[in-house]
Amino acid sequence: MAVKAADNSYSPYSGFRVGAALLAADGRIFTGCNIENASFSLTNCAERTAVFKAVSEGVRDFRAISVAGSSSGDFSKRCVPCGACLQVLREFCGDDFVIILSDGWFRLADFMPISFSGESIK
Ligand code: THU
Repeated sequence: MAVKAADNSYSPYSGFRVGAALLAADGRIFTGCNIENASFSLTNCAERTAVFKAVSEGVRDFRAISVAGSSSGDFSKRCVPCGACLQVLREFCGDDFVIILSDGWFRLADFMPISFSGESIK
């Protein structure tokens, strides 16, 4: 589903097509793609698109996400979520949230063993 979601990638600037498929606790799957902008910093990654779609539908409990990215159409190389996406995932997901890449799976804690939680400002 992540590879299929990359079909809708809007990436005229980088040419790097990314898709994500986010599994919610209730079994629903929300897909997303990267959406670039002429003002480059406004680009939204595939993972955040999927998370924002889900949260805007009232869903906040997630189990796993798969991510696929490629500039050639060959999605066999791993595409690791960027730091911004990891932080957005961290907002809703715990250490055991699963991140599925082309060559295996990881826990959120593998990429973010220590992260900002907002506790210090609450
Ligand atoms: N990108 C994603 O959508 N997800 C990632 O995990 C890494 C990067 C996008 C952002 C930009 O449109 C393109 O890939 C190149 O960085």
